[in-house]
Amino acid sequence: MYAFEQLKKETVKVLTAGGLKDIIVEIPPENINADLAVPCFSDAKQLKKSPVEIAKEIAENIKIPKDSIVGRVAAQGPYINIYAGAKFFKNAINEVIKEGSKYAHKKPVKKTMVVDMSAPNIAKPMSVGHLRSTILGDSIARIYTSLGWKVIRDNHIGDWGTQFGKLIYAYKKWGDKKKVEKNPIPELLKLYVEFHKKCEKDKELDDAARNEFKKLEDRDKENTNLWKWFVDVSLNEFRKTYSELDVCFDLWLGESFYNEMNAEIITEALKKGVAKKDGGAIIIDFNDKKMPPFLIQKKDGATLYSTRDLSTIKYRVQKFKPDKIVYAVGGEQAQHFIQLFRAADMLGYAKKEQMVHVSFGLVSLPEGKMSTRNGRVVYLQDVLNKSYDIAEKIIDEKNPDLKNKKNVAMAVGVGAIKFNDLSQNRIKNILFDWNRMLSFEGDTGPYLQYTHARGCSILRKAKIKKAPKFEIATTKEEKELILHLSKYANAVTLAAVTYEPHHIATYLLTLSHKFNLFYQKCPVIVEENKDIKDSRIALVFASKQVISNGLKLLGIDAVEEM
Ligand code: ARG
Repeated sequence: MYAFEQLKKETVKVLTAGGLKDIIVEIPPENINADLAVPCFSDAKQLKKSPVEIAKEIAENIKIPKDSIVGRVAAQGPYINIYAGAKFFKNAINEVIKEGSKYAHKKPVKKTMVVDMSAPNIAKPMSVGHLRSTILGDSIARIYTSLGWKVIRDNHIGDWGTQFGKLIYAYKKWGDKKKVEKNPIPELLKLYVEFHKKCEKDKELDDAARNEFKKLEDRDKENTNLWKWFVDVSLNEFRKTYSELDVCFDLWLGESFYNEMNAEIITEALKKGVAKKDGGAIIIDFNDKKMPPFLIQKKDGATLYSTRDLSTIKYRVQKFKPDKIVYAVGGEQAQHFIQLFRAADMLGYAKKEQMVHVSFGLVSLPEGKMSTRNGRVVYLQDVLNKSYDIAEKIIDEKNPDLKNKKNVAMAVGVGAIKFNDLSQNRIKNILFDWNRMLSFEGDTGPYLQYTHARGCSILRKAKIKKAPKFEIATTKEEKELILHLSKYANAVTLAAVTYEPHHIATYLLTLSHKFNLFYQKCPVIVEENKDIKDSRIALVFASKQVISNGLKLLGIDAVEEM
């Protein structure tokens, strides 16, 4: 994997009169009009010349071979600026066309990643926070898959914990089977809320709930069946949402899967001297004033979220030998993950560097913040439906005769939500501003989808099935577009190493701007010179291909018409 800086600066070996030599090559900043730059500082002392003189001398004496990808070389201050030539443009476009949907994909690199993502909780609605985790985790999984990694998407469902004692108690007391069957999650949520309300007045309910959970842990038949039923009906709901979001999982190992392992983990932690008894509880103490101890067993003997997460790491490492375990989980759990990674490292389950908390900010909906306890809830499905509705209205206005309108509206609605999320620094809080997100003109998912569809429409009008060969770029707009296209792989790598898909999102926005500029300035279908026309068609083809490849890495469907 590249180091972060190397994306901007690279050392290359060059054959000089004095033999092989390392030189530094940089991608210059935006305000410098050059494609590459070579700084000339390093030899100044030895040659007893100023870097400016050295740059000038080299640039004047360089002979560019005929078939070079370099077109022109010129000195600017202490730098030698290098400009791409005809061959570079030709290679860049023909490579995109040749590789198609596999363009910028890497061969298998024998590396494995587990992505812990989505992980909603049983009997509760999937929250917008889980939506972020799903979208972000999925995009990271897609990016690393394209870079040749084996990626395992694991949905660590919240299907265990004392809250199930409360739910079982509430259901036995106030539940109605038919109602739950008809409308599972809202009904179960109601019971949960009811329990909390009653509990405020009657503290004994807590004991009753604890008792129900104990029975569940001891595999009481009735409680186990109820629990299984809650899990089934909830998963059915979640699956619908995943299918609309076009997100799949390789594993669905919820917290309950690790029940058998927890005792062993606690014993091992005590034996290794990593954990210790504290009152009746068991903790892992980091002996660090800034980091509180990690509680892995409560006084009453119950295990916790933390214990199950430790078991999960041990299991994943044994089973998959992952090079990385990536957790797409909200920033409010930052401390939990610092403690978890430290503890797993101390126990020898995984090295700290092997695990990454890909943290993210909150989501605010115009409808207000959601909270499960008091029942004021925004249902994710309503959020998705709203997005489809707005998209459909816009399409109705813009393209009333479009076939398959409903499907396109869904792709645009989902695209808008995903892009709104993935186009920003993930740690930032995001706002759902419906009008902005769904606009076909701003920096939005629909704008990219629309640009892609425009590319497809040009190709339909040109009546070509196969892209022609690219030969020549004649205008500034074409050259700038091609240069930007050639930087796509860099954007993908940058997104991967930083776990920030927004690098791809911003790259695609610039690409679309440059594509639209090109299309405004350069005639394509009506161009009379055949070489120029073919090259421009090839350029349209390559641009829409890269937009589609990039959107795919964000999990967004590049529709052909909209
Ligand atoms: N179910 C948890 C929640 O909703 C998220 C789980 C994240 N994954 C993990 N391995 N802890 O907050």
